[in-house]
Amino acid sequence: MDNGYTGSLPTITLIGLMGAGKSTIGRQLAARLHIPFVDLDEAIVTRAGKSIPKIFEEDGECVFRSFEGETLAALCADGQPMVLATGGGVVMSAPNRQRMKKAGPVIWLDASAETLASRIRGDDNRPLLRGVDPLQKTRELSRARSPYYEQCADLRVDTEMLDVGQAVDAIMCFVERWKREKTAGNG
Ligand code: S3P
Repeated sequence: MDNGYTGSLPTITLIGLMGAGKSTIGRQLAARLHIPFVDLDEAIVTRAGKSIPKIFEEDGECVFRSFEGETLAALCADGQPMVLATGGGVVMSAPNRQRMKKAGPVIWLDASAETLASRIRGDDNRPLLRGVDPLQKTRELSRARSPYYEQCADLRVDTEMLDVGQAVDAIMCFVERWKREKTAGNG
């Protein structure tokens, strides 16, 4: 795989369904690695000048997905070391998957539908959950998206039995190995 690795830390991208812990784990991972943390949804809000629920309400999901793709492209083009937490649907676009893979290692945070649904129940900031049963929706999204998470990810971390610190440790181990392999490959 040609990922253009040149020796410094790459972008480490976290993918997974809503409630997987991408932002929480991503913040701690970035602090441990001393690199910036970027939340793709927050970057979209800045770019669009309105909240995610407002984008869905006023412009629809298609427009949200365009913002998502454009914002991801802009962030990946920077080539800066960072931990990037993405929204759950980012993997459904082939160009998005290519961009994330090219930018560096992609980590899939996973858990059972039951656990994910219990973490996101009652969250008002997620338009896909409005007026639906969170468990049913999570199962549906998991069926549709898991093949893409699997295809895109270099590492799957099952967060079911891990606390945040343990999940960060697992990713740190992987990133260290990834760096060693890339450095050896370049030498
Ligand atoms: C979405 C997940 C959300 C956000 C948007 C759509 C999805 O992000 O991008 O509401 O399609 O699963 P989180 O995964 O951070 O909740």
